[in-house]
Amino acid sequence: MKVGIPKEMFPGERRVAATPATVARMRKLGLEVLVQAGAGAGADYADAAYLETGAEIVPDAEALWAQADLVLKVRPPDVPVADGRLEADRLKEGGAFLGFLWPGQNKPLVERLAARKATAFAMDAVPRITRAQKMDALSAMANLVGYRAVIEASSHLGRMFGGQMTAAGRFPPANVLIVGAGVAGLAAIAAAKGLGASVKAFDTRAAVREQIESLGATFLELDVKETGEGEGGYAKEMSEAFLAAEQALIAQHAKSADVVITTALIPGRPAPALLTSGAVLSMAPGSVIVDLAAEQGGNCPLTERDKVVEKFGVKILGFTDLPSRMARQASDLYAMTVYNLLEDLLKEGKLAVNLEDEVHRGAIVLQEGKLLWPPPSKPKPPSAAPQPARKKAELTAHAAPPPPSKIGPVLGVLAAGLLAAAGLVAGSEFVEHLTVFLLACVVGWHVIWNVAPALHTPLMSVTNAISGIILVGGILLMRAGGVGAVTVLAAVAILIATINVAGGFLVTQRMLRMFRR
Ligand code: NAI
Repeated sequence: MKVGIPKEMFPGERRVAATPATVARMRKLGLEVLVQAGAGAGADYADAAYLETGAEIVPDAEALWAQADLVLKVRPPDVPVADGRLEADRLKEGGAFLGFLWPGQNKPLVERLAARKATAFAMDAVPRITRAQKMDALSAMANLVGYRAVIEASSHLGRMFGGQMTAAGRFPPANVLIVGAGVAGLAAIAAAKGLGASVKAFDTRAAVREQIESLGATFLELDVKETGEGEGGYAKEMSEAFLAAEQALIAQHAKSADVVITTALIPGRPAPALLTSGAVLSMAPGSVIVDLAAEQGGNCPLTERDKVVEKFGVKILGFTDLPSRMARQASDLYAMTVYNLLEDLLKEGKLAVNLEDEVHRGAIVLQEGKLLWPPPSKPKPPSAAPQPARKKAELTAHAAPPPPSKIGPVLGVLAAGLLAAAGLVAGSEFVEHLTVFLLACVVGWHVIWNVAPALHTPLMSVTNAISGIILVGGILLMRAGGVGAVTVLAAVAILIATINVAGGFLVTQRMLRMFRR
């Protein structure tokens, strides 16, 4: 199969859909790769670097599209080329396309691809599920964008982010307010904190509170009980009353903010207007607003797309090309997500779409011209509300406790028999030790099985440290006896217990480090 990588035509777009590293991987999968001359130039990848990986450089875009069975791109193929045609019209009949497509907003473009009997995949439609994280191009880009928003803000702000204590004066840290703490918002919080700012953030999803706080920012509380949690980890649209209360909260904190970065988004909806003109008016002259939602109309009504405007002395940045401003890294990340999806879609070097697969089904928009988007929504998980339709008998059957296990009584009888036998043949001291041993087994068993399975490893590593008791016993025995079997056994016990104690602490330390930033 021939895979084509055209040069992006969208004005200002510098990213490329495949880097020499991902081309090399595609070659290993047995794919032929055609790269348009200069496709990687904006991301600092020379044609020579692609040639080295075994790709063929094609000088002409038209020829590349005509030859490729699958075209990989960043932007949707909607740039006009000639004679009223768009890039999409260059795709060969029955060819395949993979890139950002935004099928919800680009219906005419999807129709054009359908007319070419195309199979099309949208990187923006890859579901945000754990298995698909390595194919999540949106998150990969948003992460860079959050960082870049802080850098852009700092280049327009007339002061440092960090606090300063110098002989010439003392300055507190800059105040940064982040609205919307999704991927971009959290990256912006991390970057602003890294530069020393004091950061506050707000989001409608309660789940992000912990993430905001773990990055050292303050979570702003809104006294309206309404959850922003929507389907698939995304936010849902809020009520008018909530938005009004939120605007007031943001206006209150914007007053003292040097920088406001807005990232609030509900997929497929225009951006909610959260930072009102009144709030901008109340900000100090010289403050900066970065409106990441500019592409969807902006979270601030004064934002102008792709421009820096000054309103009431406040600079408002409406850039929509932030990933392109870091084209090299953005291309590396994007190309890797594209490669990961492609690898998942391929079988023996050919596209093999499995419509039962959640990722394939989410990403596919067209299959040989047939519209498959949007994917059927997943059945909702059963609600916790009582289900009157269920019969009483059925409910009783489900509510009944599981039959008691027979193993407990059997073990009890065995232990009693063992103790009785020991009492007959051995002395009382031995019976006493055996009783303690058997009780320890029972108590230990119940304690361990009442701990959540996820905590078994740290629990076991800590309980290993209890081997300290064996150490003490071994040392006492060694002190008591001369050279004999007891001393040798005690030495072995000390050695094993020492390994247990040291190993237990080491493993626990390692596990704790995993949870610390
Ligand atoms: P995301 O979906 O991960 O995060 C959006 C966040 O906004 C969610 O946490 C959601 O709960 C929150 N939100 C929704 N409604 C809200 C409200 N009323 N108040 C407060 N929070 C609210 O999205 P992601 O990936 O972080 O992207 C953020 C924004 O950045 C989007 O608008 C996206 O289009 C934009 N973006 C901009 C680029 C640029 O160059 N300017 C490039 C890439 C993304």
